[in-house]
Parts: sequence; structure tokens; C-alpha cells
Amino acid sequence: MRTYCIIGDPVSHSLSPAMHNAAFKSLGLDYVYIAYRVAGSELEASIESLRSVKIAGFNVTLPHKTTVLQYLEEIDVPSGKAGAVNTVMSINGKFKGFNTDIQGFVQPLLNRGIDFNGLSVLLFGAGGSARAVVVSLSNVNGISKLVLANRTYRKSLELSKLAETNGLTSSVTKIEEAKAMAKSFDLVINATSVGLQSNDSILERDDIDGSSIVYDLVYRPVMTKLLENAREKGATAIYGYEMLLEQGAQAFEIWTGLKAPIPAMKKALFGVFQEPK
Ligand SMILES: NC(=O)c1ccc[n+]([C@@H]2O[C@H](COP(=O)([O-])OP(=O)(O)OC[C@H]3O[C@@H](n4cnc5c(N)ncnc54)[C@H](OP(=O)(O)O)[C@@H]3O)[C@@H](O)[C@H]2O)c1
Repeated sequence: MRTYCIIGDPVSHSLSPAMHNAAFKSLGLDYVYIAYRVAGSELEASIESLRSVKIAGFNVTLPHKTTVLQYLEEIDVPSGKAGAVNTVMSINGKFKGFNTDIQGFVQPLLNRGIDFNGLSVLLFGAGGSARAVVVSLSNVNGISKLVLANRTYRKSLELSKLAETNGLTSSVTKIEEAKAMAKSFDLVINATSVGLQSNDSILERDDIDGSSIVYDLVYRPVMTKLLENAREKGATAIYGYEMLLEQGAQAFEIWTGLKAPIPAMKKALFGVFQEPK
């Protein structure tokens, strides 16, 4: 019997328990995955509690993806590049951090055979997930232009430094300016929480070009207002659940050493919401 969990605040919207419990069940593993709401001020004490109950591993979601690093004994190379962790494994009681958002982000683009050569990218957001996106983009060759826009301008500058450290040149702009120029980008990514359990959108329909790819990391609702706007303009929509599935599959493989049963995990997600047509 092993126990896994997710820590975050809020955490009630997380689909990771449904996805991982379905994966364990489908392979006949006697493991369980639960969600714990952990406020920022309780992080250190909560990590020590997880240690004392001998947790086998856990996922980390907002707002802890960067602050958790100080409580881990080891991190892998990609997490070090991003300065953010979303998956932790207990190895003989020592906590090692991984960042499966990095591969999880790029996999849906690879699955569609998208050519990165000459691709211009506009990224909204500068939080934990945006850091993973930037590292992911630095791992693929050919990005011709990267523009970063975030509500808090200072954080976009920090993200731009992270891109540079990882060998990717970027420029920074204000959100309003980014909205006005969004149509000229091949790939537009929303890594803000705008649209999470709401009908808000970082871009209006007329801000979107029909030839763009619009990728929303937000996965609840599955059809965000942003993706609805993109589809109405004939743009290619990439859904947040696709990344959720890929990062979850990678976490499963780190924890168990087994190939993730993606169809069972996907089925569990679509038991919660409908797959978009
Ligand atoms: N699909 C997946 O697998 C996956 C993985 C990771 C995250 N996500 C989703 O991605 C989103 C961001 O997650 P995160 O971990 O990066 O969160 P985070 O670290 O808390 O960052 C939140 C980001 O959203 C921005 N933001 C929040 N409210 C805003 C508003 N009203 N207007 C403009 N910008 C706003 C913040 O800007 P400031 O810096 O100005 O506060 C910041 O850039 C969440 O919805 C999360 O569920 C999905």
C-alpha cells in the first residue's frame, strides 16, 4: 500500500486524484492518491507531516511550485532550470523534485506534429507554469521570437531572465500591448489563471487570427472562453487537459517505473468533463 497526494491552495478543482486513482486501479496497484489543501504559511509543516507519514510521492500545485524547492533534498536538472517543481518522489525518505510540466507542455504540440522552425510565440503569464513553458520552449529548436506579457511587469522581466539563462532570447510587453499584437503570432499561450472556473478570457475573439495556434493551460472548464474564441476564429485550439494528462503520465512513470495507462487516465478525466468535439 502506498499513498500519494497533491498539495496546493486551492486544490478542490484538481483532477489529479481522479486521474491517478484510475491509473492505479487499471494496473491493479494497491495505491491511493488524495488531495490536501495547504496554505502558503503551512507549507513547511505540511512537508514534514508528509515525511512522517512516509508519503511515497506527491504533486505540487499553485502557489507552492517554487517555494517547495527549499524543503527538498534533491531536484532533477529540468526542475533546476525552471526553478519550479510539480512532482516529488520519496527515495528512502529523501524528497526528490521533478518538473513534469516541462515535457507535459510540449507533448501536445509534438503530438500534432507542429513545426517549431521559425515559430513566433506570445506567452501570457509569469507564474510557476509559465516558467515550465519557457524551459520547454528553450528545449525545442527554431523558435524565432518569444514575447512575454504578465499583469505584474516585474515578473515578466524575471521570466525573460530565466529564458535568457536557458539560451532563449525574449522581449517583454504589457498585457494590453500584447493583446493588440496577438494576431501576428503563430502560437499564443495562456499560462495565467484567467479563465479558471470563470468565463473570462485573456483575448477577445477579434484579438485572434485564424491561422494561429491558441494553447490554454487552464483546464477547468475544458472549453475555456479563450479556446471558444479561438475556435470561432478558425484557430487551432490546444486544451489544458492535454498537458494535464501528459504531465500526470510522466509523474506516474517516475513514481512507479511503469508505463502510464493513458487511456484509463483520460477516461477518468472525461468522467468529470466531456471531451470537446
Ligand atoms: N494544464 C496543466 O497541466 C496545467 C499545469 C500547470 C498549471 N495549469 C494552470 O495554469 C494556470 C496558472 O498556473 P500557475 O501554476 O502558473 O499559477 P501561478 O504561479 O499562481 O501564476 C498565476 C499567473 O496568472 C496571472 N494572473 C492571475 N490572475 C490574473 C488576472 N486577473 N489577470 C491577468 N493575469 C492574472 C498571474 O499574474 P501576476 O504575476 O500579475 O500575479 C500569474 O502570471 C492555472 O489556471 C493552472 O490551473 C495547468
